Amino acid sequence: MTLPGTARLPGLADRLATVRAFTERLCDPLEAEDHVVQSMPEASPAKWHLAHTTWFFETFVLAKGRPGFRPYREGWSHLFNSYYVAAGPRHARSERGLLSRPTVAEVLAYRSAVSDQVQELLRSPQGERAGVAEAAELGLHHEQQHQELLLTDLQHLLSRNPLEPVYASRRLPGPTGSTPQGWIERPGGIVLIGHEGAGFAFDNEGPPHRAFLEPFGIASRPVSAGEFASFIEDGGYDRAELWLSDGFTAAVQGGWRAPPYWRSHDGAWTRFSLHGRIAVDPGAPVTGVSYYEADAYARWVGARLPTETEWESVARDAPVTGQFVEDGLLVAGPTSGDAPLFGAAWVWTASPYVAYPGFRPAAGAVGEYNGKFMVNQMVLRGGSCFSSREHLRATYRNFFPPHSRWQVTGIRLARQ
Ligand SMILES: [Fe+2]
Repeated sequence: MTLPGTARLPGLADRLATVRAFTERLCDPLEAEDHVVQSMPEASPAKWHLAHTTWFFETFVLAKGRPGFRPYREGWSHLFNSYYVAAGPRHARSERGLLSRPTVAEVLAYRSAVSDQVQELLRSPQGERAGVAEAAELGLHHEQQHQELLLTDLQHLLSRNPLEPVYASRRLPGPTGSTPQGWIERPGGIVLIGHEGAGFAFDNEGPPHRAFLEPFGIASRPVSAGEFASFIEDGGYDRAELWLSDGFTAAVQGGWRAPPYWRSHDGAWTRFSLHGRIAVDPGAPVTGVSYYEADAYARWVGARLPTETEWESVARDAPVTGQFVEDGLLVAGPTSGDAPLFGAAWVWTASPYVAYPGFRPAAGAVGEYNGKFMVNQMVLRGGSCFSSREHLRATYRNFFPPHSRWQVTGIRLARQ
């Protein structure tokens, strides 16, 4: 994988140690049983996330840079390789929850051993070998992606337990009202899109290229939960004219009547969260909705979703500020005034996830990271309250199938 500008960055070993430790901290509130269960095929057990991110460093960093490399345990690659066909056979994704062995303690020991070996490698002359630092940098950002997935998968898992276990206790701010939504108007024209210059980026963020935009406006804040509740009260889920055909079919077949985790109590909405069941704050961004729900909501208000090019053209000039996982509030919080483009909730864009002009995946197994998923998914931008602040940038492209409803996904409107 070509990683523009990622020559041996200062402090890589230290940053890696911090990021690896944060993954383990996210698992501190969990019991052994919580680590093992898989709540649906799309979600992975926490133990698997802990091990897979470690396998990534073994396969793409240690195997490349460490003389006489031998895997920590023969056979574990089969369990913890996610989808890299060129890296060998894989355990079925839908059966990750059946892996009672290795135990959590064994996986934590695996993490510790591999982390130590990576640290040793990066601080040794072998760490200067071509591609080692770049692969370690990729492993760092890969680990941050899995930190977010670990939280979204845990939220889904705990939500399926009638006891509604609390992952993190926290006193939440009281309910707020929606601030008026304005529009950020842009004149359009030719804009530069994609990553260029120094600093890490995934391969799917490039090459940089020009794109043309008609004049457009993007909303000053995300759609709030209170606004989405009005869509529900107006029969939004029953009005086929608001929906894409595939979306209406998904909504009917899935019995969708509200965003995931929402429940109505005597006319008031509550939702499950990693802080337990809480009142839905009408002033906070709506989250958990699929692309289909986002698109239907936009049609209901006579607007549309932004394209990823429109979003990025505005975000390029914006600081990466907002609500991130470091803040410790694990639900999208209310916003006042113009809301940052980053953090709180990913926003669905109207753009299909496809290659930029001139995109070429890297040779070998690591080339499977992004490129082979460029069909049947939609792009999301901006990051969420489960994302690390330093993981995000204006060119960052997240992607999920349009029916997905377990990530921290929200809506920001656009108009011509
Ligand atoms: Fe992965």
